[in-house]
Amino acid sequence: MIVPVNLGSHSYSIVVEPGALATVGERLRALGVGRRAALVTDAGILRLHGGAVAAGLERAGFTVTVIEVPEGETAKTLAVAEHCWDRLLAAGLDRTSTVLGLGGGAVGDLAGFVAATYMRGMNFVTLPTTILAQVDAAIGGKTAIDHPKAKNLIGAFHQPRLVVVDPAVARTLPDRDFRSGLAEIVKHGIVLERRYFEEVERDAARLLARELDVLDRVIGGSCRLKASVIERDPEEKSELRFALNYGHTIGHALEAATGYARWTHGEAVSLGIVAEARLASRLGLADAATAARQERLLAAVGLPVRAGGLDVEAALTAITHDKKARDGRVPFVLAPRLGEFRVVYDVPPAEVRAVIGELAAATR
Ligand SMILES: NC(=O)c1ccc[n+]([C@@H]2O[C@H](COP(=O)([O-])OP(=O)(O)OC[C@H]3O[C@@H](n4cnc5c(N)ncnc54)[C@H](O)[C@@H]3O)[C@@H](O)[C@H]2O)c1
Ligand SMILES: [Zn+2]
Repeated sequence: MIVPVNLGSHSYSIVVEPGALATVGERLRALGVGRRAALVTDAGILRLHGGAVAAGLERAGFTVTVIEVPEGETAKTLAVAEHCWDRLLAAGLDRTSTVLGLGGGAVGDLAGFVAATYMRGMNFVTLPTTILAQVDAAIGGKTAIDHPKAKNLIGAFHQPRLVVVDPAVARTLPDRDFRSGLAEIVKHGIVLERRYFEEVERDAARLLARELDVLDRVIGGSCRLKASVIERDPEEKSELRFALNYGHTIGHALEAATGYARWTHGEAVSLGIVAEARLASRLGLADAATAARQERLLAAVGLPVRAGGLDVEAALTAITHDKKARDGRVPFVLAPRLGEFRVVYDVPPAEVRAVIGELAAATR
């Protein structure tokens, strides 16, 4: 599947296809960029999936510099970015050259930041290898490194020239990382498209078994949905991008309240979706069956739907620090029906407390 992302002069394609990593070289050559390229990745991913990319690039006539960065979030620092700039300079890369980020969202964010800043911006290609990166982080042009005081604080919008998603790489992911990424997939269905939600419902077991044709279709569908949002709101200027924040207001608060240690991002988003679905039903915006159906699908794909022992007060305090708060009010994205969303600014704090309390009370 090829998903076009129409952004005027910044348009690009998302290629979703098993084995697509081997075709990156020829696809990049077709864009007419300079012959020097840098492949930014971590040692583990390089060993698993780097060979196909590097060989394809060389076959297509590119000179490739491999830049190994630390694994996961530890890659998103100024020191690592500086190391990358040094390597680009030493290898003679210029504005016509290309940085390719092969890895999860962390490698993608770092590589994108390096590409956005080196010589005021060079070509950038994302080769996402986690589910979260394939359906979310790699699409949309948000790049960043972390500040010691806050995640993603230093960054830029820099759209990729090309995104190549190989659904087969999802099969080498550790189980917990794999399942965590599915939370964003379920989220896309709930707020953007009922038909897609139902497809994931129907295929939940085969998705969990990582059957390649199902991975291909479901990941491709989710890329299409995220791309449709980016096209309509490329720089987060309207309410539309808020839709992608579904499950995240409470999800982020749960992560913060537990020091980012108890749940992965996707697990916290799963719990956030459960709570926010119930919030919609408590506010009379959605019926109880709609909330129950979301919870059932999350459980079916192996995501947590209960948060026994959670410190409710800590979670409520964390919500008041939400980045998206305006004049002290935190906007909630709620889903009145599957495939629809609404941004609600005046959710009574007592209702938020009630749904978080319910999550915390239940153990399972
Ligand atoms: N730019 C955006 O719009 C955006 C959106 C969401 C998240 N993010 C960022 O994404 C990051 C999280 O990304 P993530 O969840 O992909 O985690 P990650 O990038 O930290 O990677 C998780 C781990 O999986 C390993 N890994 C990656 N692909 C693998 C594969 N195919 N097989 C085996 N192991 C593999 C990595 O080496 C790493 O150890 C955060 O830094 C977050 O801020 C960015
Ligand atoms: Zn998320």
